Parts: sequence; C-alpha cells; structure tokens
Amino acid sequence: MSIQNVLENMWQDYLLLNPEAQRVVDTLHAEAESIVNDHIALRTFNVGVVALEECAKPFLAMGYKEKDEYFFEAKKLRAKHYEYKADPSTPKIFISELLVHEFSSDFQAIVNSLVSHISANQVQKSGFFHSGRPWNVSLSQYETLLGESDYGAWVAAIGYRPNHFTVSVNNLKKYSDINTLNDFLKSKGFKLNSSGGEVKGTPHVRLEQSSTLANRVEVEFTDGKKEIPSCYFEFAKRYPLDSGELYQGFIAKSADKIFESTNTYHASQ
Ligand code: NI
Repeated sequence: MSIQNVLENMWQDYLLLNPEAQRVVDTLHAEAESIVNDHIALRTFNVGVVALEECAKPFLAMGYKEKDEYFFEAKKLRAKHYEYKADPSTPKIFISELLVHEFSSDFQAIVNSLVSHISANQVQKSGFFHSGRPWNVSLSQYETLLGESDYGAWVAAIGYRPNHFTVSVNNLKKYSDINTLNDFLKSKGFKLNSSGGEVKGTPHVRLEQSSTLANRVEVEFTDGKKEIPSCYFEFAKRYPLDSGELYQGFIAKSADKIFESTNTYHASQ
C-alpha cells in the first residue's frame, strides 16, 4: 500500500474519533487556505512487540527516516520523530511510548496482559495505526491505569489509532500567525486547550503549538460503556534555524503540556 493511502486511511480513522478536525479544515478552506499536515502523533507502550522501534518499522519500510529522540520526564514518555525525505510536504510521524516499567506493578501487569494479545505480525502491517484496539479491557483496568497515567489509559481504551494530526501554520496565508489563527478558530466556536497557555513554545525554541480540546467518545469496555477523551487537532508554527531551514523537531517541555489535551480533567472543561 502506498504511503499516501496509509496516511489517508489514518486520517479517516482519526476523523471517526475527532470529527471536529474536518470542521476545522472546512472552516479554513472557506477562508481560501490550503492545509498541509505537519505531523501525525502516535502512541504506544515500551513493551515487547509494540515498543516504539517496532511500531516505527513499517514507516521506515515506506521511506521514512528516523530523526530525533525526546524524553518527557513528567509524563514518563520517550519519543522519536520520523521524516519522509522523498517529499518533505508528507507529514512527519511522531511516535511516543509510555515507559511502563516506571509505573506500579499493578499497572505493569495490566499493560503486559493487554500487549500479550498482539502478535509481531500485526504490528508490522502498514495499517497497524488505524487498526483499532487489539484487546479487550475492563473499566476497572482502565481506571487503574488512569490513576497513574492519562496516556496509558488512553492507549488501553483507544488502541492503535492516530492521537492527533497537525495543521502546518506556516503554510497558511491569512492565518500564518498562531495567535491570529487561535483567535479566528475561537471566533468560529472551536475550544482550544488553554492548559499552560494557549500557545506552547516560543519563536526562540523554534516551535509554537496550540490545539483544540480533545473530543469525547463512548468506548466499550468488557463490563460497560464510558465516555472518555479521544483526539485533538493541533496547529504548529515552525521558525528557521540559523541555517535558514525551518526547525523540524519537537520540544519536550511544551509537549508535556500538549499531552494534557487528552487528560480527562482538561477535556471535561
Ligand atoms: Ni503534536
């Protein structure tokens, strides 16, 4: 399957979790803007066949190249980003993994039992990141994970589906300033994540990002249904390095705040 097909399938799957993203795109199209996707964020656990580098292999096989590595200490995450060299307008892939060994033994036991339902073959398919949730999970397992990590609870409940897509603010014309864009989106009724300020990052660190609040979806657990935060839409403005090239990396500190877009308490605001 071509990379464009894989990315399109991931976008369609993401829209099921966050239909608002299409409304944001339509709203910007109505302003004669064209949308370039900066990056797609994917989540996993650092366990066995689903560890970050295993999840990255299908993207490497499709022509992506590994770039930088990041650590998010407060969230106990490690991440890498991948770029598609043949066409820089193809979105970067950002994969993070939860450092499961840093959590309680109950937490680890739940994650290990979930991951035991997945084979290495499943992970290596090009469509793994729009394949849904490969395990059953109970509400009590979900709540136990949620007590220690919103991120871990999200992966357990949602599974292998895109966490967010990201509009490249640089490629907008009228709204190429992130504050102008934010004000416009709010005037159209979209709610932005204001945890840590609407804009995370600065021109000095070469990256500014904002995002919508996560949508909420009803998820089926083995012992009932529950509405939980799903996905948000992100906006990224990149600034040039001394070389004149736009910075293509990510900022660990500001991303700690961005991850809170899917925290249960922020999303319920
Ligand atoms: Ni992002």
